[in-house]
Amino acid sequence: VRVVVLASGSGSTLQALLDSPDRGALWEVVAVGSDKPGVSALDRAARAGVPTFTVAPADHADRPAWDAALAAEVARHEPGLVVLAGFMRILGAPLVEACAGRMVNTHPALLPSFPGAHGVRDALAHGVKVTGCTVHLVDAGVDTGPILDQSAVRVLPGDDEATLHERIKTAERDLLAHVVSRLARESTHPTSTHPERTAPR
Ligand code: GRF
Repeated sequence: VRVVVLASGSGSTLQALLDSPDRGALWEVVAVGSDKPGVSALDRAARAGVPTFTVAPADHADRPAWDAALAAEVARHEPGLVVLAGFMRILGAPLVEACAGRMVNTHPALLPSFPGAHGVRDALAHGVKVTGCTVHLVDAGVDTGPILDQSAVRVLPGDDEATLHERIKTAERDLLAHVVSRLARESTHPTSTHPERTAPR
């Protein structure tokens, strides 16, 4: 399965996919895109020999033009699956609709708790003892699509946002690689029409 990954930052989540033993077997990362030039995620892709692209909002007249340009660039790589690995922009309808059921996002909290750009900070501030990460199908909302899998992470005394987020990211990397491989296996040997419903009802 051809996978396009979109990332906005350091790309440690992307790195987990690049390092997966299933890469090149069950699925292949055919391109890595970002909304920002020069981010580490693009360097990690280049080091792995994966083509990269940048579609920056500043290069487009307005938000709809950016959405359309990103959708066109992603489509050019003919992905079977699009993975948002730390992509910090809300996607417009063109890309979400073009990839319906074939785009996943990873979020560093146990959705539906703590959606949005500060899930780790919000969980810590709320005083939860267990948080975690979620991989879900992307729909038109923000962090609202059908949940595919989750992993729990305990909050430790003395945790701050950085230490807790690092611990969550460790779980997140394994979770995302596992879900991508499962979706790839299903797309070649479909077991159900809804990937999130693999277990028998
Ligand atoms: C991940 O925790 C992701 O869920 C969140 O930002 C982090 C991305 O980290 N949106 P990285 O850029 O992959 O290191």
